[in-house]
Amino acid sequence: MSPRIATVFGATGLQGSAVVHALLKDGTFTPRAVTRDVNSTSALSLAQLGAEVVAADFGDKEALKNAVAGAEVVFLVTIPTFIASFPESDQGKNVIDASKEAGVRFMVFSTLPGISDLSKGKYTNAAHGDDKATAQKYLEASGLPSASISTGIFLENLLNKEIIGFSFDKTDDGYVFRTSTHPHSSAVHTWIGHDMGPAVTALFTQYVTRSSEILGQTFVLGSARATFEDFVVRLSKGLGRPVHIQYEKRLGIPAIDDMFDCLVEFPWYAGMSVPDPRLEKLGVKMGTIEEFARSVLKSHVDE
Ligand SMILES: NC(=O)c1ccc[n+]([C@@H]2O[C@H](COP(=O)([O-])OP(=O)(O)OC[C@H]3O[C@@H](n4cnc5c(N)ncnc54)[C@H](OP(=O)(O)O)[C@@H]3O)[C@@H](O)[C@H]2O)c1
Repeated sequence: MSPRIATVFGATGLQGSAVVHALLKDGTFTPRAVTRDVNSTSALSLAQLGAEVVAADFGDKEALKNAVAGAEVVFLVTIPTFIASFPESDQGKNVIDASKEAGVRFMVFSTLPGISDLSKGKYTNAAHGDDKATAQKYLEASGLPSASISTGIFLENLLNKEIIGFSFDKTDDGYVFRTSTHPHSSAVHTWIGHDMGPAVTALFTQYVTRSSEILGQTFVLGSARATFEDFVVRLSKGLGRPVHIQYEKRLGIPAIDDMFDCLVEFPWYAGMSVPDPRLEKLGVKMGTIEEFARSVLKSHVDE
């Protein structure tokens, strides 16, 4: 029997690599990892683990066709225009068109709320949210069976010095969390490394048998909804030492400033429980912020 193929975009990145690892562990699908450089260290290590690795850029329609040819399912994460140098909504459109043409049966799209719509036109600069929402609408109108996973703010931001708006450091009496979000704003906190892989695997392996619970749904991936003040309390419990929160000035980057302003006035996923009980019913057990602090953050920051 020929293998069931799952094409994974962004496979060398945080979300995609979590999906590739979870698919390899589960064994139902053979992951086909998409990268622009099949010879990069991350691409080579995915190949070594057993993934098929193929080259494609979101702007290269022919390469995208090859990336999804023969795939049963596709995981798509798109990249903000200012990073990928190619419009984010068109990245989505190109992959969705290629997947539909290739006869892909099911797609999972990693999305975000459209900040312009959510804020009723008040915050219009957060293109990374708006473009994902545009691509999601395009997917839902395309006729390709799909589900979307909407994320919160990644816990892994605390591990990555290149991410703007958040930092986490050791101090003499504990730790300090610095952020350009605003006091008392609440967010969904998402542990990608723990939860994205199992969530996508659960959808891929059950989209036929539990189609009524999956197709057309937008799931919220998150450990908890919490203010940043509560967030540091939970981190502190996991780390066993105090965590101080320090609010920083605005970044002067309209896309991110608008997103953080929006969080104060227009909560994301209002009225929805986090963790999402629909994902839990499908067998996904979300990690907690305390567990992230204890098992990942502590060794990273204490090094
Ligand atoms: N940080 C947060 O708190 C947060 C919260 C919600 C949503 N997000 C969203 O998460 C997304 C980023 O996901 P991530 O953190 O998993 O990514 P990441 O770790 O930054 O990795 C980016 C991935 O995209 C691939 N890529 C970049 N440009 C490409 C192109 N032109 N064509 C094809 N592939 C390309 C890269 O592959 P190669 O380099 O191997 O080609 C890499 O695998 C963004 O859209 C962001 O808006 C972030």
